[in-house]
Amino acid sequence: MMKWIGILVVSGITFFSSCTHPYEEEVGNTWNVNMSLSFIDPEFWPEGQLLHIGLFEDDDTRNPVAHINLNQPANSSVNASIYEVAEGSYNAQLYLTENGIYKVKVLDLGTYDVYDNINESIENIQLITYDRVQRQVFNNCVVCHGSSAGDIAAGLNLTPDNSYEHLVNVAAFMQPNMVLVYPNGADYSYLLKVLQKEIDFNHPASSSATEADRQLVMDWIEQGALNN
Ligand code: HEC
Repeated sequence: MMKWIGILVVSGITFFSSCTHPYEEEVGNTWNVNMSLSFIDPEFWPEGQLLHIGLFEDDDTRNPVAHINLNQPANSSVNASIYEVAEGSYNAQLYLTENGIYKVKVLDLGTYDVYDNINESIENIQLITYDRVQRQVFNNCVVCHGSSAGDIAAGLNLTPDNSYEHLVNVAAFMQPNMVLVYPNGADYSYLLKVLQKEIDFNHPASSSATEADRQLVMDWIEQGALNN
Protein backbone atom coordinates (compact mmCIF):
# COMPACT_ATOMS: atom_id res chain seq x y z
CA MET A 1 0.00 0.00 0.00
CA MET A 2 2.74 2.51 1.00
CA LYS A 3 4.49 1.73 -2.27
CA TRP A 4 1.47 2.94 -4.31
CA ILE A 5 1.18 6.18 -2.31
CA GLY A 6 4.87 6.81 -2.96
CA ILE A 7 4.40 6.48 -6.69
CA LEU A 8 1.43 8.87 -6.61
CA VAL A 9 3.41 11.54 -4.74
CA VAL A 10 6.38 11.28 -7.07
CA SER A 11 4.22 11.49 -10.21
CA GLY A 12 2.37 14.45 -8.66
CA ILE A 13 5.66 16.38 -8.24
CA THR A 14 6.66 15.57 -11.80
CA PHE A 15 3.27 16.81 -13.02
CA PHE A 16 3.55 20.19 -11.25
CA SER A 17 7.11 20.82 -12.26
CA SER A 18 6.29 20.15 -15.91
CA CYS A 19 3.46 22.72 -15.61
CA THR A 20 5.70 25.50 -14.36
CA HIS A 21 8.43 24.90 -16.91
CA PRO A 22 6.76 26.45 -20.04
CA TYR A 23 6.10 29.65 -18.07
CA GLU A 24 9.76 30.63 -18.36
CA GLU A 25 9.51 30.43 -22.13
CA GLU A 26 6.79 33.12 -22.22
CA VAL A 27 9.41 35.87 -21.99
CA GLY A 28 9.52 37.53 -25.40
CA ASN A 29 5.81 37.28 -26.06
CA THR A 30 4.10 39.66 -28.47
CA TRP A 31 0.65 41.15 -28.23
CA ASN A 32 -1.79 43.07 -30.38
CA VAL A 33 -2.70 46.68 -29.72
CA ASN A 34 -6.20 47.36 -31.03
CA MET A 35 -7.53 50.89 -31.14
CA SER A 36 -10.83 52.27 -32.19
CA LEU A 37 -10.74 56.01 -32.79
CA SER A 38 -13.54 58.39 -33.56
CA PHE A 39 -12.87 61.79 -35.09
CA ILE A 40 -14.70 65.07 -34.91
CA ASP A 41 -14.88 66.49 -38.44
CA PRO A 42 -13.15 63.69 -40.36
CA GLU A 43 -13.43 65.94 -43.42
CA PHE A 44 -10.42 67.80 -42.00
CA TRP A 45 -8.30 64.68 -42.54
CA PRO A 46 -4.87 65.97 -43.58
CA GLU A 47 -4.20 66.34 -47.29
CA GLY A 48 -0.79 65.48 -48.66
CA GLN A 49 0.27 63.91 -45.37
CA LEU A 50 -0.19 60.53 -43.72
CA LEU A 51 -1.70 59.98 -40.31
CA HIS A 52 -0.32 57.15 -38.16
CA ILE A 53 -0.62 55.55 -34.77
CA GLY A 54 2.86 54.87 -33.41
CA LEU A 55 4.23 53.25 -30.28
CA PHE A 56 7.34 54.92 -28.91
CA GLU A 57 9.68 53.83 -26.16
CA ASP A 58 10.68 57.38 -25.30
CA ASP A 59 10.45 60.83 -26.83
CA ASP A 60 12.53 59.88 -29.84
CA THR A 61 9.87 60.46 -32.45
CA ARG A 62 12.05 59.26 -35.31
CA ASN A 63 11.89 55.66 -34.19
CA PRO A 64 8.47 54.23 -33.43
CA VAL A 65 8.73 50.67 -32.12
CA ALA A 66 5.68 49.87 -34.22
CA HIS A 67 3.23 51.91 -36.23
CA ILE A 68 0.30 51.69 -38.58
CA ASN A 69 -1.02 54.02 -41.29
CA LEU A 70 -4.58 55.21 -40.96
CA ASN A 71 -6.78 55.76 -43.97
CA GLN A 72 -9.47 58.38 -43.97
CA PRO A 73 -12.64 56.73 -42.66
CA ALA A 74 -15.91 56.92 -44.58
CA ASN A 75 -17.67 57.96 -41.36
CA SER A 76 -16.08 59.32 -38.20
CA SER A 77 -14.68 56.02 -36.85
CA VAL A 78 -11.62 53.98 -37.67
CA ASN A 79 -10.33 50.71 -36.20
CA ALA A 80 -6.64 49.91 -36.29
CA SER A 81 -4.54 47.05 -34.95
CA ILE A 82 -0.81 46.93 -34.49
CA TYR A 83 0.16 43.26 -34.43
CA GLU A 84 2.96 41.43 -32.66
CA VAL A 85 4.11 44.23 -30.40
CA ALA A 86 6.92 43.10 -28.09
CA GLU A 87 6.13 43.30 -24.39
CA GLY A 88 7.00 46.63 -22.87
CA SER A 89 5.78 50.07 -21.91
CA TYR A 90 5.06 52.50 -24.74
CA ASN A 91 3.81 56.00 -25.39
CA ALA A 92 1.20 55.90 -28.11
CA GLN A 93 0.89 58.87 -30.42
CA LEU A 94 -1.28 59.97 -33.30
CA TYR A 95 1.15 61.72 -35.64
CA LEU A 96 1.68 62.95 -39.16
CA THR A 97 4.37 62.26 -41.68
CA GLU A 98 5.04 64.18 -44.86
CA ASN A 99 7.15 62.62 -47.61
CA GLY A 100 8.01 59.80 -45.20
CA ILE A 101 9.37 62.14 -42.54
CA TYR A 102 7.90 62.65 -39.07
CA LYS A 103 6.14 66.01 -39.11
CA VAL A 104 4.11 66.58 -35.96
CA LYS A 105 2.24 64.95 -33.12
CA VAL A 106 -1.51 65.38 -33.46
CA LEU A 107 -2.44 63.78 -30.12
CA ASP A 108 -0.96 61.83 -27.24
CA LEU A 109 -2.90 58.59 -26.98
CA GLY A 110 -1.49 57.67 -23.57
CA THR A 111 0.97 55.21 -22.09
CA TYR A 112 0.37 51.50 -22.46
CA ASP A 113 1.95 48.62 -20.58
CA VAL A 114 1.74 45.90 -23.17
CA TYR A 115 1.75 42.61 -21.27
CA ASP A 116 -1.47 41.40 -22.83
CA ASN A 117 -3.60 42.36 -25.82
CA ILE A 118 -4.75 45.96 -25.56
CA ASN A 119 -8.19 47.15 -26.64
CA GLU A 120 -8.58 50.88 -26.43
CA SER A 121 -11.26 53.25 -27.62
CA ILE A 122 -10.68 57.00 -27.95
CA GLU A 123 -13.56 59.29 -28.81
CA ASN A 124 -13.94 62.79 -30.21
CA ILE A 125 -10.47 63.35 -31.59
CA GLN A 126 -9.95 66.85 -32.94
CA LEU A 127 -7.77 66.69 -36.01
CA ILE A 128 -7.12 70.42 -35.95
CA THR A 129 -6.06 72.20 -32.80
CA TYR A 130 -4.20 75.43 -32.27
CA ASP A 131 -1.49 73.44 -30.53
CA ARG A 132 -0.91 71.49 -33.71
CA VAL A 133 -0.93 74.65 -35.89
CA GLN A 134 1.71 76.11 -33.59
CA ARG A 135 3.97 73.08 -33.73
CA GLN A 136 3.44 72.29 -37.39
CA VAL A 137 3.57 75.81 -38.84
CA PHE A 138 4.49 78.68 -36.52
CA ASN A 139 7.45 76.96 -34.88
CA ASN A 140 9.13 77.20 -38.29
CA CYS A 141 8.71 80.98 -38.34
CA VAL A 142 10.27 81.97 -35.03
CA VAL A 143 13.73 82.54 -36.49
CA CYS A 144 12.41 85.90 -37.65
CA HIS A 145 9.14 86.16 -35.72
CA GLY A 146 10.25 85.83 -32.14
CA SER A 147 13.85 84.86 -31.86
CA SER A 148 15.49 86.34 -28.79
CA ALA A 149 18.28 87.73 -30.94
CA GLY A 150 17.31 90.89 -32.76
CA ASP A 151 14.03 92.42 -33.85
CA ILE A 152 10.79 90.58 -34.27
CA ALA A 153 9.77 90.90 -37.93
CA ALA A 154 6.72 93.15 -38.37
CA GLY A 155 6.26 93.02 -34.58
CA LEU A 156 4.64 89.61 -35.05
CA ASN A 157 5.72 87.17 -32.34
CA LEU A 158 4.90 83.59 -33.35
CA THR A 159 6.47 81.77 -30.38
CA PRO A 160 4.21 79.31 -28.52
CA ASP A 161 3.19 81.58 -25.66
CA ASN A 162 2.66 84.65 -27.81
CA SER A 163 1.36 83.73 -31.23
CA TYR A 164 -2.33 83.48 -30.40
CA GLU A 165 -2.66 86.95 -28.92
CA HIS A 166 -0.52 88.38 -31.72
CA LEU A 167 -2.71 86.92 -34.44
CA VAL A 168 -6.38 86.59 -33.58
CA ASN A 169 -8.37 89.78 -34.20
CA VAL A 170 -5.17 91.83 -34.38
CA ALA A 171 -4.72 94.42 -37.15
CA ALA A 172 -1.91 93.61 -39.58
CA PHE A 173 1.15 95.82 -39.51
CA MET A 174 1.68 95.63 -43.27
CA GLN A 175 -2.04 96.06 -44.04
CA PRO A 176 -3.73 97.82 -41.10
CA ASN A 177 -7.24 97.62 -42.58
CA MET A 178 -7.13 93.81 -42.27
CA VAL A 179 -6.75 91.57 -39.25
CA LEU A 180 -4.18 88.78 -39.23
CA VAL A 181 -6.66 86.08 -38.19
CA TYR A 182 -10.40 86.65 -38.50
CA PRO A 183 -12.14 83.65 -36.86
CA ASN A 184 -14.36 81.76 -39.36
CA GLY A 185 -13.20 84.12 -42.11
CA ALA A 186 -10.14 82.81 -43.93
CA ASP A 187 -10.79 85.25 -46.81
CA TYR A 188 -10.46 88.18 -44.42
CA SER A 189 -7.37 86.89 -42.65
CA TYR A 190 -4.14 88.57 -43.69
CA LEU A 191 -2.05 85.70 -42.33
CA LEU A 192 -3.47 83.49 -45.03
CA LYS A 193 -2.76 86.09 -47.72
CA VAL A 194 0.87 86.09 -46.59
CA LEU A 195 1.04 82.30 -46.68
CA GLN A 196 -0.57 82.27 -50.11
CA LYS A 197 1.72 85.08 -51.29
CA GLU A 198 -1.25 87.29 -52.25
CA ILE A 199 0.54 90.35 -50.91
CA ASP A 200 2.48 93.28 -52.28
CA PHE A 201 5.56 92.97 -50.09
CA ASN A 202 8.27 90.41 -50.49
CA HIS A 203 7.86 88.03 -47.58
CA PRO A 204 11.23 86.33 -47.18
CA ALA A 205 10.20 82.86 -46.07
CA SER A 206 6.55 82.27 -46.68
CA SER A 207 7.72 79.40 -48.85
CA SER A 208 8.76 77.53 -45.67
CA ALA A 209 5.07 76.70 -45.25
CA THR A 210 4.00 73.75 -47.38
CA GLU A 211 0.65 73.48 -49.12
CA ALA A 212 -0.52 71.15 -46.32
CA ASP A 213 0.52 73.79 -43.75
CA ARG A 214 -1.47 76.48 -45.54
CA GLN A 215 -4.46 74.17 -45.68
CA LEU A 216 -4.15 73.48 -41.96
CA VAL A 217 -4.07 77.19 -41.09
CA MET A 218 -7.07 77.80 -43.33
CA ASP A 219 -9.09 74.95 -41.77
CA TRP A 220 -8.16 76.14 -38.29
CA ILE A 221 -9.40 79.67 -39.08
CA GLU A 222 -12.59 78.35 -40.69
CA GLN A 223 -13.26 76.26 -37.58
CA GLY A 224 -13.28 79.42 -35.48
CA ALA A 225 -9.55 79.84 -34.73
CA LEU A 226 -9.98 78.24 -31.31
CA ASN A 227 -7.25 78.36 -28.69
CA ASN A 228 -7.20 74.59 -28.13
C1 HEC B 1 13.53 84.97 -42.84
C2 HEC B 1 12.69 85.71 -41.92
C3 HEC B 1 11.22 85.37 -41.86
C4 HEC B 1 10.64 84.14 -41.71
C5 HEC B 1 11.31 82.78 -41.55
C6 HEC B 1 9.22 84.36 -41.68
N1 HEC B 1 8.94 85.68 -41.82
FE1 HEC B 1 7.11 86.54 -41.75
N2 HEC B 1 7.94 88.38 -42.07
C7 HEC B 1 9.29 88.61 -42.16
C8 HEC B 1 9.50 90.03 -42.36
C9 HEC B 1 10.86 90.71 -42.52
C10 HEC B 1 8.22 90.62 -42.41
C11 HEC B 1 7.90 92.08 -42.60
C12 HEC B 1 8.13 92.42 -44.02
C13 HEC B 1 8.56 93.84 -44.19
O1 HEC B 1 8.78 94.53 -43.19
O2 HEC B 1 8.71 94.22 -45.36
C14 HEC B 1 7.26 89.55 -42.20
C15 HEC B 1 5.89 89.72 -42.16
C16 HEC B 1 4.99 88.73 -41.90
C17 HEC B 1 3.57 88.91 -41.76
C18 HEC B 1 2.82 90.22 -41.83
C19 HEC B 1 2.61 90.69 -40.41
C20 HEC B 1 1.80 91.96 -40.31
O3 HEC B 1 1.33 92.23 -39.20
O4 HEC B 1 1.63 92.66 -41.31
C21 HEC B 1 3.03 87.71 -41.50
C22 HEC B 1 1.56 87.38 -41.28
C23 HEC B 1 4.10 86.76 -41.47
N3 HEC B 1 5.28 87.40 -41.71
C24 HEC B 1 3.93 85.41 -41.23
C25 HEC B 1 4.95 84.48 -41.23
C26 HEC B 1 4.76 83.08 -41.02
C27 HEC B 1 3.42 82.40 -40.72
C28 HEC B 1 5.98 82.49 -41.12
C29 HEC B 1 6.32 81.01 -41.02
C30 HEC B 1 5.60 80.10 -41.89
C31 HEC B 1 6.94 83.54 -41.40
N4 HEC B 1 6.28 84.73 -41.46
C32 HEC B 1 8.30 83.33 -41.55
C33 HEC B 1 10.30 87.69 -42.07
C34 HEC B 1 10.13 86.33 -41.93
